[in-house]
Amino acid sequence: MIEVKNLHKSFNGIEVLKGITTSFEKGKTNLIIGQSGSGKTVFLKCLLGLFNYEEGSIAYEGRIFSQLSEDQKRNLRAEIGMVFQGSALFDSLTIAQNVMFPLKMFTKMSQSEMEDRADLVLKRVNLPDAHKKMPSEASGGMQKRVAIARAIVNKPKYLFCDEPNSGLDPKTAIVIDNLIQEITEEYQITTVINSHDMNSVMEIGEKIVFLKDGLKAWEGSKETIFRTDNESVTNFVYSSNLFKKVRKMYIEENE
Ligand SMILES: Nc1ncnc2c1ncn2[C@@H]1O[C@H](COP(=O)(O)OP(=O)(O)OP(=O)(O)O)[C@@H](O)[C@H]1O
Ligand SMILES: [Mg+2]
Repeated sequence: MIEVKNLHKSFNGIEVLKGITTSFEKGKTNLIIGQSGSGKTVFLKCLLGLFNYEEGSIAYEGRIFSQLSEDQKRNLRAEIGMVFQGSALFDSLTIAQNVMFPLKMFTKMSQSEMEDRADLVLKRVNLPDAHKKMPSEASGGMQKRVAIARAIVNKPKYLFCDEPNSGLDPKTAIVIDNLIQEITEEYQITTVINSHDMNSVMEIGEKIVFLKDGLKAWEGSKETIFRTDNESVTNFVYSSNLFKKVRKMYIEENE
């Protein structure tokens, strides 16, 4: 469980996060949604411990980040897996070497232990035969799966994904979303995903936090997002004509 209280973050005197309070539960896929520039990536980087913030706190299972020693922060970072926008694989390493990278960084495993673990997670993301390939030889969807395998290889308690399905076709995007949700439940991870994709919201939005101009404008689940009257949410959700039609059908059916 992650608890965020009154988080404020500025750059050069301009406030980008203006006091966000929310929480993310274990075993759940939590989605941060909002328009481009609303502060999703900055928020995620604060969760990752990559940014300092002026005010507020983030607690991971009660451990308040700003109060931890350097050693404790390092231990916490070892519990975090991340999938960046655009996969961010190391081009000069094979897929298996990419996946083993966090183990080299954070554990004292032997080479064969690392290989076994990489084997297991590559199988888990349905890439049983890709070990020796280079990232450039893999498709976009495969690269995302490698990035997910790398993010979970060290059994993280927390998984953060910034737009994990950007650049993928809608069908592959859903495969990736579902994979993240299955892994989240299976390993009981606290997962936070940035997205501006309504398909993801519909598929895996167990908890949705809607950001607008650096503030939490709404939170709820995929079951409640279509029923809310909150104007900022409806403007965002129904910016696509498809969803406008779906809503109209939904209302007509329930009349
Ligand atoms: N390192 C930085 N220095 C200064 N300003 C920044 C920095 N990073 C982000 N910002 C600003 O913070 C605001 C929020 O940016 P952020 O990247 O979090 O948006 P986002 O919601 O992730 O958008 P997108 O959907 O396009 O990825 C923007 O106005 C951006 O210009
Ligand atoms: Mg972003």
